[in-house]
Order: sequence, then structure tokens, then C-alpha cells
Amino acid sequence: MSNASSIRCLITAGPTREFIDPVRFISNPSTGKMGFALAEAALQAGWNVDLVAGPVAMEEPDGAILYPVTTAEEMFHQVDALFDACDILIMTAAVSDFRPVQQHAKKEKKGTASMTIEFERTTDILKTMSERKVQQTVVGFAAETHDVLRYAREKLASKQLDFIVANEVGQAGVGFAADTNEVTLIAADGSSVKLGPGTKASIAAELIALVTPLSLSHS
Ligand code: CTP
Repeated sequence: MSNASSIRCLITAGPTREFIDPVRFISNPSTGKMGFALAEAALQAGWNVDLVAGPVAMEEPDGAILYPVTTAEEMFHQVDALFDACDILIMTAAVSDFRPVQQHAKKEKKGTASMTIEFERTTDILKTMSERKVQQTVVGFAAETHDVLRYAREKLASKQLDFIVANEVGQAGVGFAADTNEVTLIAADGSSVKLGPGTKASIAAELIALVTPLSLSHS
């Protein structure tokens, strides 16, 4: 069993912003609450915490090292730089899957009645890290509005994760922006456990206890 004080945990939280021009971007309603709750729970468990956060209005958890980022590409580079030293990666961030192909240097003027924006895929951070992992435990989140468990199991397999947290979003009281949540933790062997409904803090504490890495990257 690992010694809690030597566990290094890398958590991502919040949304990313993908800019169209200097004053417009696409994003999502993630507030970072679940990721920050997990950071607090990990700190309480005695872990070292690196927290990579998109633009959020959350208080910095006392004891975590905070790395603020804005875009998916910045989040990718920050996670990439920290991944080798971590024992467990927990990706709660709602990373934008697409970004505009062109980012205009100046504010676009509304000269025409309609406008079309071409998007390209961002790097799948979780999949990229999972593919190059050595002994790290890799945990993903699946935010879904429907068929939550089916899609979560598919992501667990396709991204070769150790665990996925299936989270229904788009309903009052769960998911984005809420203080409460209800999730299902699914392990790579297919076993699952339902957590909540409860506060994000109580669910975070249960999650941290359940995903504790058994082996460490360093002694
Ligand atoms: N994720 C990531 N990099 C991305 C997109 C998502 O690391 N560019 C991570 C999220 O942090 C989350 C998991 O992948 O832990 C699932 O993200 P989600 O967007 O729900 O799933 P996708 O795989 O992007 O699939 P889809 O959008 O089709 O549901």
C-alpha cells in the first residue's frame, strides 16, 4: 500500500476557452467545482496536488499548486509537463473538443448577415496521457446528457482508463455549476459503484478513497 504523503496527484478542472477573435470565444458552463472539491479531498488525504485549472472563479485550495490556463492547448502543454511526475491523473476539466481553425488578431466586425466558423479538433489530453502512461492511475470524467453509463463505458475502453466517473449533466442539482452531484465510478474491470446524491465535497472524498494508486512512480 502506498504512503499517502508521497502520492502526487494531477487534477484538471474547469472549462477551456477557444478564441474566435480577441473578444469572443466558445466555452461551456463548467465552474470547476468538482475538480476543486477533488483537490481539497486529495489534500485532506495527505496527497500532493497539482491543479491545472481553466478560467474559474474558485478560491485556490490551500496547499495545492495551481496552474491557471485558458485554452485546451495550454491545458495540454501544462498537463504534459506535469504528467511524468504524478502518480494519478484525474481529468475533471470540460476541455473544448473543438477550436476555431482561424483566430483573428483583431475584433471581427459584423459586416454580413450570417457567418460561418470552421472548427478543428483539440488534442485529447486524457487519451494522449493514457497512451504514454507508465504506472500512473488515469481517471476520466464522462459528462453526458443521456445514455450516461453506456457512453462512459465506451470512453473507459477507448481511452484505456483505469477509472471513469460517469456524470449526468444538464439537469438541476447535478453536474455543471451545482453544489451537489450524483455519479457512478466505473473501473477498468467493469465493476461500478454509485456515489451520491450528495455534496461535491462528500462525493470527492469518496472518489479519492476509491481511486488511491497502489503503486507509485517514485519511492
Ligand atoms: N478530455 C480531454 N481532452 C479533450 C476532451 C476531453 O482530456 N480534448 C477529457 C475530459 O477531461 C474528460 C474526458 O476526456 O475526462 C471525457 O470528455 P468528454 O468531452 O465528455 O468526452 P469526449 O471523449 O470528448 O467525447 P464526446 O464529446 O463525443 O462525448
